[in-house]
Amino acid sequence: MNVEHPIWIGPSVLSADFLRLGQQLDEVAAAGADYIHFDVMDGNFVPNISIGLPVLKAVQQGTALPIDSHLMIAEPDRWVERFVEAGADHVTVHVEATPHLHRVVQRITDAGAVAGVSLNPATSVSTLEEILPFVGQVLVMTVNPGFGGQSFIPTMIDKIARVRAMIDAANSSCRLQVDGGINASTIKRAVEAGADTIVAGTAIFNERQSVAEALRELRAGITGA
Ligand code: DX5
Ligand code: ZN
Repeated sequence: MNVEHPIWIGPSVLSADFLRLGQQLDEVAAAGADYIHFDVMDGNFVPNISIGLPVLKAVQQGTALPIDSHLMIAEPDRWVERFVEAGADHVTVHVEATPHLHRVVQRITDAGAVAGVSLNPATSVSTLEEILPFVGQVLVMTVNPGFGGQSFIPTMIDKIARVRAMIDAANSSCRLQVDGGINASTIKRAVEAGADTIVAGTAIFNERQSVAEALRELRAGITGA
């Protein structure tokens, strides 16, 4: 991952223009994105269907940036190795999606990727307690997963701070990622609460500005400059 930035920002390709995905990947790399966030939805765990393995393979060929795949799917146990084979460097599964979280995390790690676990907005931080020593990333969802372009849920700020305290106490090298409704104004509060890894979809791919302008605005938003 890019050590140039203490706070990593990863554009979510869910909001990219799929007709010119290769070009958009070049644009985010040139603009200094730290990684690519790849959202997988199955129409079952979340009420939407997005992209899967063939698109991941294409993205892997189209970028030198690390790829972080966010599996919003039921029974992730059936799929994690396939996502690593297709090019994911990080694989995040939801704690709500499997009764065998430790096994899934172990399999992601054994397959050679960084394992992450994600919490929906209503899922307690206590669900992290036993798994935290085994993961490289925790993802706190700041919207209900399923769609880009939703509004940040303000009460998630306190949750981010509580996860930050757990990470500092138990596994200090673990990244704390936030996903959903992050823009130039919400990013500051999320980072102040302890997030160090940011996902942004519509704040980066939108009609208002270029990808480079959007990334500059987001980074400036971190310090409130
Ligand atoms: C939501 C996805 C997000 C989504 C974020 O379910 O997990 O990664 O792309 O989009 P924005 O940044 O527009 O909320
Ligand atoms: Zn996501």
